[in-house]
Amino acid sequence: MFRPIAAALRRRLPRTIKARVLSLIPFLGARYRTYQILTHPFDREFGTDTSGQVAPEDLDVDPSLRRQMQAYIGSQPSIVRRVLARLPEPDRFAFVDIGCGKGRPLLVASELPYVSITGIELSQELVQVARRNASTLAKRFPGRTAIAVVVGNAAEYQLEQERVVLFYYHAFGRETLSAFVGHLERQLTGTSRQLFFVYVNPVDADVLDASPRFSRWMTEALSYAPDEVGYGPDQHDTVAVWQSTPPCYPPLPNARRRVTRVNPLRAEIDD
Ligand SMILES: C[S@@+](CC[C@H](N)C(=O)[O-])C[C@H]1O[C@@H](n2cnc3c(N)ncnc32)[C@H](O)[C@@H]1O
Repeated sequence: MFRPIAAALRRRLPRTIKARVLSLIPFLGARYRTYQILTHPFDREFGTDTSGQVAPEDLDVDPSLRRQMQAYIGSQPSIVRRVLARLPEPDRFAFVDIGCGKGRPLLVASELPYVSITGIELSQELVQVARRNASTLAKRFPGRTAIAVVVGNAAEYQLEQERVVLFYYHAFGRETLSAFVGHLERQLTGTSRQLFFVYVNPVDADVLDASPRFSRWMTEALSYAPDEVGYGPDQHDTVAVWQSTPPCYPPLPNARRRVTRVNPLRAEIDD
């Protein structure tokens, strides 16, 4: 009985109002939390729009693809900043966000001197938001690397540069991720390309661990910055990073820690 009402509300009300209304309904309260209606401190600081959550059924995408895609929800800037700060030589790498949503990691990546910064996203509406965000930030920081955002199926992404940091925040279902890793393996074979695969909340870490073309480079639990707590579904995220083989950079300590999927939407390190 509640599902059709919730679906109708989701479709008809603007995002802020609908999340506020839905969060008041006791049976739905667990699904509609405050981080879905609050403006993130990052957006307040930079005048961008990266907040909230958008379910696949509310996105303008081919319905046949929805089963294998996760909702839009932005990574925490503090987590993106900390993992990117550990990666070597940004001025020799391109940065690509696989399923970039409204583009928060692209905006954070522009704090570093990447050769290029690109986001790929299925939803035209989210791409438009990400492009507006990129242009808002470019006005404030005109010297930074330009951000490009393209509409497309990121699972079909063709590597263009020699050195690439792929950023991936649990965008696909397991089936699509497996196909994507196979697609990357074929593109790496017989080349000297160097790839870092940054996976935030690596619920399907075993897919990359099983690949002969990737080896683990870092595995850590990173806490949200104190001012970000309440603006995302958790208080920390597991982040695992793989590099393409043969490896060029020595792995960080504890890189091979075991990661377990504790529920379909959450990965934690086994300690
Ligand atoms: C969890 S959000 C992450 C957004 C962004 N990467 C971040 O960290 O803030 C996942 C995004 O991937 C997008 N997505 C899912 N499947 C996709 C696909 N096959 N191609 C492109 N984008 C996809 C969704 O629309 C959603 O915006």
